[in-house]
Amino acid sequence: MDQFDRPYLIVGLIYGVLGMLLGIYMASSQDHGQYVTHAHLLLVGFLLSVLYATMHRLWLPEPKRLFAMLQFLAHHLGVVGMVTGLFLLYGGFVPPAAVEPVLAISSLAVLASLILMLMMIVFSRRTLPTAAQSPA
Ligand code: HEM
Repeated sequence: MDQFDRPYLIVGLIYGVLGMLLGIYMASSQDHGQYVTHAHLLLVGFLLSVLYATMHRLWLPEPKRLFAMLQFLAHHLGVVGMVTGLFLLYGGFVPPAAVEPVLAISSLAVLASLILMLMMIVFSRRTLPTAAQSPA
């Protein structure tokens, strides 16, 4: 994989569909017990992934493949671990002690991916073209 904008966009939109389905389920069942899962799936999964897609598209046209792949994997493994852990916790399917390590590791993975993105952006030379430089 050389370009990461499209994969980020597609996976992010899938998180968006799942998050909104969960929201619609909560609203229609009048059971809001999974609102924390819903909020994390939409904010960390959907919105942050679409933001990362935009960052790749605008600022990282030639990302360092190893860093970009590590950043991508850390983000998505983190999101899936976090959302699964929250779902099990807020659904009352497992005791908190059983799921806390999963939540801790996935939170650190999401944070590590944010720091990796920060480093990739800082060390990329790309700046957006100004209106004067853009072709008419
Ligand atoms: C189909 C669209 C959506 C539906 C049907 C929906 C439904 C819900 C419901 C029923 C709750 C629980 C409210 C409560 O018990 O306090 C909730 C909470 C929440 N939703 Fe959504 N939602 C939708 C889209 C979104 C989107 C697009 C986002 C953000 C990107 C979002 C972010 C949140 C957040 C942050 C909370 C927690 C609010 C709190 O702290 O009480 N939702 N949503």
